[in-house]
Order: sequence, then structure tokens, then C-alpha cells
Amino acid sequence: MGRNPHIKLASMAQTYGPVMSFRLGTGLVVVGSSPKAAMEILKTQDRFLCARRLSYTHPASSPKVNKFSVGFANECNDQWKYLRSICRAELFSNRALQSQMKIREKNVMKMVRYLHEKEGQVLNISELIFNTLLNTMCNILFSMDVFGPEGGGKGVEVKKLVGKFVKIVATPNLADLFPILHGWDIQGMQKKVRKINEKIFTIWKDIIKERREKRRRNILTQEDFLDALLGNGFSNDHINHMLLELLMAATETSTTATIWAVADLIKNQESRHKLSDELNKNIGNHMIKEPEIMDFPYLQACLKESMRLHPPVPFLLPRRATETCKVMNFTIPKGSQVLVNTWAMGRDPTVWVDSSSFKPERFLDSGLDFKGNDFEFIPFGSGRRMCPGLPIVTRQVPYVVATLMHKITWSLPGYNDPTELNMDEVYHLELLKKEPLQLIPKIKREVQAIKVDRGLIALQAAKSKLPHLDYTEKKARQRESVFAGITEVTELQGAEYKSYCPTASLGSA
Ligand code: HEM
Repeated sequence: MGRNPHIKLASMAQTYGPVMSFRLGTGLVVVGSSPKAAMEILKTQDRFLCARRLSYTHPASSPKVNKFSVGFANECNDQWKYLRSICRAELFSNRALQSQMKIREKNVMKMVRYLHEKEGQVLNISELIFNTLLNTMCNILFSMDVFGPEGGGKGVEVKKLVGKFVKIVATPNLADLFPILHGWDIQGMQKKVRKINEKIFTIWKDIIKERREKRRRNILTQEDFLDALLGNGFSNDHINHMLLELLMAATETSTTATIWAVADLIKNQESRHKLSDELNKNIGNHMIKEPEIMDFPYLQACLKESMRLHPPVPFLLPRRATETCKVMNFTIPKGSQVLVNTWAMGRDPTVWVDSSSFKPERFLDSGLDFKGNDFEFIPFGSGRRMCPGLPIVTRQVPYVVATLMHKITWSLPGYNDPTELNMDEVYHLELLKKEPLQLIPKIKREVQAIKVDRGLIALQAAKSKLPHLDYTEKKARQRESVFAGITEVTELQGAEYKSYCPTASLGSA
């Protein structure tokens, strides 16, 4: 299949039709590549096709670990339902999303501050987005910053280990082709993956220990997802596997979607200007707030269009037939691996006009959404195994993209023409941008022109209830104030200034 099986299989579907199958070792692989095929696989036959098919190198292929898993649970049994319900209540409910909002805002603010400091330099924006989203997710799950402000810290190790994990799990191996070899681990892959996992688990080991100790002393607080797992009596083994699975499910996918959206907007200047107009008209010079992003139709259309062209998980997660069934009159034998090529569907010229161009307008007033009901556009899958993380994604991804597009003018290193931005893809279970997105940030002039006086710095310090900030922190707040924009500066002066800033000494940064 080569390095880009999504493209190869899309072109084969043009010859062999929307449902095709081929043998891989002793197993049969079925690929659906049209909205009708997707609907039959994910809706009509969901009952028989909702089991997962896993590489034997994946730890969850062992029954002992599988019972800890949501995304790789072999079947949609009661344990899988229970774990999904915990995630729904503690991560994706309105209450949970509301309490995570501060974490997302804090990390986006850090990202903006970093860009401000590095203005004019060539930056690896792919890395910056990854670091921001990994830090956010680690804080939501177990309240830890794994990356420091300059990108160093435990996050570097996590990134390396997760990269190795994915590489091994994605590499074809003999035991997957010939299941008779299961249990022998002749290529030593299972052992390697186990070791990688154990190393990752050490990152939050002390936090779990500390929290258990607190609970033993009856100090019961619920600050994050880890507290919820402890409160529900989860073992350390179970917590380790759940945290790792959610980190991996959430971070790479959201990072990939964000990178592609930014790249698409850099390359397509007309869309970028339309988006800027929408943001300027509605929020002016303010820093965007997370709840506002739902009100911007063009922003939402840009993200959908980007995911149509670059679905982060192009084949969804592989399914397995638990019973022999039919899809578009083709027989799918029990035990077959079933894939849905969403990349092929997103580029299908019989479904989309001018299918390979970036045209967000096609989503305006179209009613098409990615909630699993419109089978021509299913980047999050559909049916009972559909991605449960959608409520987080719809807040996090547009928020980061809008912030990056609103306050900053971007240029490309070495040359000026944005249409030359390289958009090559590479398949690595996810659909990654082959080259990291390298850009030069420039803070927009009208934002730079805002004068932040000493009073405002003091005011913000007082408002944040940290009256004794050191110099560096005050400077950081000063930069934050610049990003907060003119209106906020004006609002915070005068009478309010006096009531918040009774002591002149606070303004001496
Ligand atoms: C842009 C970001 C994301 C994309 C494109 C995405 C896409 C997907 C896809 C295609 C699936 C498989 C669906 C199927 O088999 O029909 C999936 C499953 C899953 N996703 Fe996401 N996802 C994203 C973000 C997240 C986030 C933020 C979380 C959690 C915080 C998450 C957690 C999961 C889990 C737990 C599953 C397994 C569900 C199951 O098998 O029951 N995802 N995702």
C-alpha cells in the first residue's frame, strides 16, 4: 500500500467500487469508500461491525488490558458502556466542559505570550500547537504541566515515547498477518511496547500516590479526571491505561486537526481574510473567549472544510465483524477487518463540487455537520463507537485556530507566497502534515499600538488576587494586557481602577 494507503485505496475504489476487499496474510480486509457504504457499515450493520480489530502488538490486545480500554475494547459490552459513561460524565458533560474552560484559556494565553516573545522568529508551529494541547489535556486529566514555557520538560519524553508506541503499533508485523504466530512475539514488539508504556506511566505515578494518600486522610476534592477515577474505585493499572489511552486519543488528533486548519488558512488567503473580518467584526481587539467561538459561522465552516480535506483519522479506527453480514449486498464474513476511507469520501468529486479546493463557503447554511448523521462527512465516525471526545474538540480546536488567526499576521520563512506552502500528507495511523508548519509571527500593529500603563498592570495584579507579583510576572501580565485589547484597557480604568488598585506600589513594575 506504500506510505499513503488512504490515497492508494481511494484510487482502487474508483476501479473496484465503494465496497472492496483484499487478503492481508490470512485475514480479509473490507474497505468502504462511499457515503452509502459508510452508512451501512456504521449504522445499518453497526450491531455486527462495532467490535474493534487490534494489532497484536497493542497492549489492549491482551484480555487483561482490554477490560481497561474504551477505544480498543474488543466489543461493546457492559464494561465498555460503563467506561464510556464515566468519560461522558467526567470529561464531556456540560459541567465538566465548563470546569475545563479555565485550563484551555490558560494554555491558549501561554501560547499567545510565547508568540509575542518570539515575534519575528521562525517557529515550529506544529510543535507549539502540540505542546499547548498536550499540556491542556494533561491538566484536564491529572493537573500537570508536562511542557515548560519554552517546550522543555517531561513532555519531550512523553512525545518521544508516544511516537515510538505509534510507530511500533502501526508497523505491519508477521503475527497480524498470520494469527497462528500470536503468543510467540517473534519480533519482540509486544515486549517493546510494554516497556514504553511502563515508562509513560511513571510520569503520573507520584500524582496518583499523592492523591491516594489524600483520600486515605479523608481529604476529598474533585479537581480533575484522575480524582473521578479514584472516586470510582479504579485500580492503578486501570488508571494508567485509561489516562494513556485518553491522552493519545485526544492530543494527536486535535493537534493534527488544528495544524491542518492553520495551514489551510495560511495557504488560502481569501478564506483567511474572510475569517479575520468575521473575528474583527465580532470581537474587535479583545482576546477571544472560548464560549464566543460557537457564534462564528465562517470559523466553523473553515474547520469543517479542513477536516473534509484532511480527516485526522482517515480510516476511522478499524472495526471487526462479529457475525457474517451484508454491506451493499456484499457478504462480510465473520472476523473480517472493516475500514471506512473517510479521506476518499471527502475528496469524492461525485459528492463534492470542486472537491480538492478549500472552500469553506460550501458548509455555510448547508446544515452538514460532523455529528455522525451526514455520512459524506464523518471525521469522528458514527454509530456506537463514534468519537465521544467531540464536545471537547468543538471547543478546543476552533478556539486555538481563531486565536492564532485573530491576533497575528503570519509569514513563511524564505519566501513570501503562501500558496507555496507544502501540504504533503503522510499516513501514520493519523493523517499528518509531512513537513512541520514553520511560520513567522508578527503581532498585528493595532494591537501593538495599545499603550498599557502602569495602572493597568497594577489593576490586573490586584484583580487576580496576587498583589505581590514579582517583576517577571508583572511583565507577563503586561503582555497579557496588550492582548486583552483596547476596550478592556478603557473599561478597566477610572473608577474601577481606583477600587481595584488602592495601593500605588502595585504599579511599580
Ligand atoms: C480532532 C480531534 C479528534 C478526531 C478527528 C477524532 C476522531 C476519532 C475517530 C475517527 C474515532 C473512531 C470512531 C469510529 O470507530 O467510528 C475516535 C474514537 C475515540 N475518540 Fe476521538 N477524535 C478526536 C478527539 C478526541 C478527544 C479530544 C478525545 C478525548 C478526550 C477522544 C477520545 C476518543 C475515544 C475514547 C474513542 C474511542 C471510542 C470507542 O471506541 O468507543 N477523541 N475518535
